[in-house]
Amino acid sequence: LQTLPPVQLAQKYFQIFPEERDPIWQDPCEDKRHKDIWSKEKTCDRFPKLLIIGPQKTGTTALYLFLGMHPDLTSNYPSKETFEEIQFFNGRNYHKGIDWYMEFFPLPSNTSSDFYFEKSANYFDSEVAARRAAALLPKAKIITILINPADRAYSWYQHQRAHDDPVAQKYTFHDVITAGHDVPIKLKVLQNRCLVPGLYATHLQRWLSHYHPSQILVLDGQMLRTEPAAVMDKIQKFLGLTNTLNYHKILAFDPKKGFWCQLLDGGKTKCLGKSKGRKYPDMDVDSRRFLREHYREHNIELSKLLYKMGQPLPSWLREELLHSS
Ligand code: A3P
Repeated sequence: LQTLPPVQLAQKYFQIFPEERDPIWQDPCEDKRHKDIWSKEKTCDRFPKLLIIGPQKTGTTALYLFLGMHPDLTSNYPSKETFEEIQFFNGRNYHKGIDWYMEFFPLPSNTSSDFYFEKSANYFDSEVAARRAAALLPKAKIITILINPADRAYSWYQHQRAHDDPVAQKYTFHDVITAGHDVPIKLKVLQNRCLVPGLYATHLQRWLSHYHPSQILVLDGQMLRTEPAAVMDKIQKFLGLTNTLNYHKILAFDPKKGFWCQLLDGGKTKCLGKSKGRKYPDMDVDSRRFLREHYREHNIELSKLLYKMGQPLPSWLREELLHSS
């Protein structure tokens, strides 16, 4: 029997099976054969048990902050490359492997109580994140936050303007969302970033094809904004945490910021930075009307999906459905 040296053999293999070039990482402890060859110094308890998947601009940073206040929950170390987010499952970081991912979490001290979580807001609408996450973290709990997709689109546009994106500076929001096919590619890219994550039913369906509905909690982002303590109660139940933290006592509404913030000793508040909860004019009525129509069918699909999952409809969705009937 003749065989090529290892590297050439691998090259030959991937020539024959190019579709296998993209790796898929599984939990080494889920399969005895993998566990047996997994280093004794490593542990499978260094993976998160909860993922906040986004989408962007729905209040994910506020939720991340609030969860981090809970004594039973531990967030990831911040990433130097992507600010606080790891963004492992959605993009190129995935190819860095699971050791790279695990380094973002502390070495477990007491394996039964360590409950790690991370939030990467573009997992939600990624084509690949759900499949990859389910392969590595099949038992994880998943939280997604949904606000009116029209408001999400507008918030993203304002975010880009605040970051001096020349396209968002040049074109009005209405120009961006209504642009046809025959427009500069950069405008199309911005349009997609505004509109595509808001096709909630499509993205949620993808997560549901990899996770059981009982593992996924859909939060009303509007409620997270106005009644965060009630939302945190709901999350604690969903996660089955032993210690219940009374968020009513540790969050306070900051009138200057216009949002709920962490209440510090001495009565001061610690709010999120300027980039979260920006001040900008209301959306114009034409854009609102256009987006209502644009998302109508998708919102109807979303309501059916939530019904099947046994989850309540967010208040903004009920309002949108009323407008479309
Ligand atoms: P705007 O800045 O457009 O108002 P994300 O963290 O996912 O990027 O979401 C940012 C959005 O979170 C903000 O969008 C804001 O509306 C919302 N948000 C909800 N609760 C908040 C809070 N307590 N503090 C600041 N922003 C909050």
